[in-house]
Amino acid sequence: MIIAVDGPTASGKGTIAKALSAHFDLPHLDTGLLYRAVGRQVFLDGGDPDDAGDALAACSFPDALLDDPRLRNEETGGLASRVSIHPNVRKALFERQRSFATQAKGAVLDGRDIGTVIAPEADAKLFVIASVEARAQRRFLEMRERGVKVTLLEIADDLRRRDERDRNRAVAPLVAADDAITLDTSGLDRDEAIAASVAAVERLVAQKRGGGS
Ligand code: DC
Repeated sequence: MIIAVDGPTASGKGTIAKALSAHFDLPHLDTGLLYRAVGRQVFLDGGDPDDAGDALAACSFPDALLDDPRLRNEETGGLASRVSIHPNVRKALFERQRSFATQAKGAVLDGRDIGTVIAPEADAKLFVIASVEARAQRRFLEMRERGVKVTLLEIADDLRRRDERDRNRAVAPLVAADDAITLDTSGLDRDEAIAASVAAVERLVAQKRGGGS
């Protein structure tokens, strides 16, 4: 079984994908981490994330970079969003994601284009959304816990900028697949969001098995 979980930054899709992976006993790939590694590698190379050539060169980042905690920070998130608009970068990362998705055991992948480009045949597709306010608040609490000094307003502005870039890029923009279930986590806590996503996937899989739509 392949489960695709797409959605914008801080929508809760990562938490949901991890929980689905544990619940259905499927390996999980956070595809945003690959774009983050490319963004970080461009920075380490002293390159320009807006330059397609520099970004492509950074796609051969060493695997060890994926374990670097700095990939999770906001600066790297911004760089990832910038390198991800280049079609050559998306192409370079495609095979890795595609082979993860099609492994015999099945898989859960989360990102922006899993249900539309990487695994359009996925058995269950969730499109996880939340209001900018709810997402900014979650990020704010997370960052405060890590001791990062930032205002709610700065986070909200950054989220809007990133959404705009992810939604409007020419290749593989952030958009719900036609057959995805949209899950709005704005008013849900962590456990409620997980319970709703497990229920949604079970419903989709049962429908598929029953041949319904
Ligand atoms: O999910 P995230 O915040 O870790 O993703 C970081 C950036 O990577 C995001 O702004 C857009 C890009 N991305 C993408 O273009 N396609 C994916 N499948 C995953 C992430």
